[in-house]
Amino acid sequence: GMPISKAVIPAAGLGTRFLPATKAMPKEMLPVVDKPAIQYVVEEAVNAGLHDVLMVTGRNKNALENHFDRATELEAVLASKGDQRRLEEVVRSTHLATMHYVRQRDPLGLGHAVLRAAMHVGDEPFAVLLGDDLIDDRDVLLERMIAVHESHASSVVALMEVEPSQTHLYGIATVEPTDESDVVRVTGLVEKPRPEDAPSNLAVIGRYVLQPDVFAILENTPAGSGGEIQLTDALNSMAESGLGGGVTGVVFTGRRYDTGDRLDYLKAIVQVAATRDDLGPDMVAWLKDFVANH
Ligand code: UTP
Repeated sequence: GMPISKAVIPAAGLGTRFLPATKAMPKEMLPVVDKPAIQYVVEEAVNAGLHDVLMVTGRNKNALENHFDRATELEAVLASKGDQRRLEEVVRSTHLATMHYVRQRDPLGLGHAVLRAAMHVGDEPFAVLLGDDLIDDRDVLLERMIAVHESHASSVVALMEVEPSQTHLYGIATVEPTDESDVVRVTGLVEKPRPEDAPSNLAVIGRYVLQPDVFAILENTPAGSGGEIQLTDALNSMAESGLGGGVTGVVFTGRRYDTGDRLDYLKAIVQVAATRDDLGPDMVAWLKDFVANH
């Protein structure tokens, strides 16, 4: 497989599960402790060596662009106060990556959002990171997927075991084992099956490495589950036909937080806060007390 240098971050969804918080603000800007969720995702891309980031945004998404731009007035105030620590925090997101933006005019689905990246990406493989899916930075996923892409010369999806009661929330894979314990060959994918129809308990989570062939497939992918153009449907067709080397799965067993879901979002905040040097000790002490008295 060819080396990867570009990351695409779809962040144009409506975030209806978080209304009214997401009425005028994108869900990707919701803070996880003191950083918006989207910054963790951009940092993950950069840590995997991807410095060219294209964000797919929509109406109400200006805060995303502003967050990765300079905030000159704020910088001047912090500098004049000599608050070096906060100044560094404010400036950091500005210099993380080379940011590009494209708008998805109508939120017609994740597949449709990825197709908006075709012009920018061109004829190269690329990574996709969902803006509301956080992978704990102590666990390795994207680097592993890029390595598997390079050795298998295929598209790569991230898979995670889920409870049968959860299959209707995800794309679910039909797989065959390989000689690497965390790698499977994906022979089919189905979006949001009922438990009785699910071919496995391996769910697709929000990280992908895709061959550019996916764009031509997406062009011809009709609306599927929920009336949306589904990336899962395009990947299923690539898995079945073997186009672009087919689809390989990396089975992830680390920590993942879905910040688009209210309960998972609350869990993410608690888990991230508990590991922080500045907040963790107080947070954990308070939590123990809270649980004991609840
Ligand atoms: P979700 O299904 O989590 O998105 O999409 P949503 O529509 O924002 O949220 P709910 O279900 O209404 O609460 C997964 C990812 O795909 C992006 C979302 O921004 C999210 O990162 N997406 C989805 C798009 O960019 N465009 C779309 O048309 C749909």
